[in-house]
Amino acid sequence: MSGGQQETTIGVHDLIARRRSPRALDAMSDVTPAQIRRLLEAARWAPSFGNTQPARFLVGLRGDDTYAGVLAALTERNRSWAHRAGALLVALTVRRNAKGEVPYAEYSTGLAAENLALQAVAEGLAAHQMAGFDADTVRRTFDVPTDVEPLVAIAVGPAADAEVLGEPRDVERERAPRTRLPLSELAYTGTWGAPLP
Ligand SMILES: Cc1cc2nc3c(=O)[nH]c(=O)nc-3n(C[C@H](O)[C@H](O)[C@H](O)COP(=O)(O)O)c2cc1C
Repeated sequence: MSGGQQETTIGVHDLIARRRSPRALDAMSDVTPAQIRRLLEAARWAPSFGNTQPARFLVGLRGDDTYAGVLAALTERNRSWAHRAGALLVALTVRRNAKGEVPYAEYSTGLAAENLALQAVAEGLAAHQMAGFDADTVRRTFDVPTDVEPLVAIAVGPAADAEVLGEPRDVERERAPRTRLPLSELAYTGTWGAPLP
């Protein structure tokens, strides 16, 4: 990455500015069923190609079988911090329906996941997405149909102090400033590579 830009500099909405993916989650706080419903409702109202609505979710709350099944499917690295989450979800996408292949299924599901993540911020929670999980384990554990693909696991809970991670390297990484490409490297006008004035 060239020339990272730290934190948000232009006044974006608070929900966007405050969203992040912490690994330090509060193991003492529960995520309530009502909060989960609002997160899912936010996902439900995301745009999708032709209103195909391919996003699906498996939802586990701390202590239930679904939570245990999702936790077991995570990579060891992700399990080492995500076990503190109040809820563990998997976002899946319906690749094919009765009309055939669903166009933009993954894209539409990503939009639903971001809606969910922003609603989490509004609830005082964080939603940390993880590619690091075994999709086949999820398929087997939850009897997922073949036309449905597990895309990301999502750890949900209130953020905690970085110290809960224990390992000094992890604490340091958690506290490191977040960086992004500068706008000049991702938005062009007139011709490819020409930044906005
Ligand atoms: C599709 C996707 C997969 C990700 N997989 C993981 C993962 O397996 N483990 C992890 O700790 N973070 C994972 N992340 C979180 C990213 O590392 C994080 O979003 C990125 O570093 C930007 O940080 P921020 O979300 O705090 O802005 C993933 C994020 C996305 C969108």
